[in-house]
Amino acid sequence: MQEIEITTKVRVCDYSELTTEEKHLVDVAKEQTKNSYSPYSHFAVGAAVLMQDGEIFGGSNQENAAYPSGLCAERTAIFYAGAHRPNTAMTAIAIAAYSGGDFLDKSAAPCGSCRQVLLEYEHKFKTPMKVILYGKKCTFVFPSAESLMPYSFTEDDLFSAQK
Ligand code: THU
Repeated sequence: MQEIEITTKVRVCDYSELTTEEKHLVDVAKEQTKNSYSPYSHFAVGAAVLMQDGEIFGGSNQENAAYPSGLCAERTAIFYAGAHRPNTAMTAIAIAAYSGGDFLDKSAAPCGSCRQVLLEYEHKFKTPMKVILYGKKCTFVFPSAESLMPYSFTEDDLFSAQK
């Protein structure tokens, strides 16, 4: 028997401490919350994906009366980016959540399904995707999708099973 420790690194800072590029991405994510369709949760989430060449794709959560048919902001933005620019790496994603009349002090973290999707595109392009979780009082910056979801199911697991 052995015990292993899985650690992750995260930068915890204030919006003012972000780089100009990070701030801009956060600003786009905040703007995107205005396009959220969230009549059921009243929890508006915005996301902005930065492509390697500087282009930005935005998305917001889109809900449905049949709850599972809705989609989170992160996946809306990532799939939008992937559908339009299938050959360009995604180098960062910023996420912001607005509820009860203001942005949250500490941002919502992406759900498990969104983390799995972020990881897929990070692996597809073999390029780290920085994940910025904006909060009014505190912002988290993860260096990659993998750092947000260590020990995950990946294409390697599938391919090794097929051998
Ligand atoms: N949601 C997101 O869009 N992203 C997250 O990171 C967490 C949750 C959405 C899904 C649903 O529309 C609402 O927030 C409440 O869960």
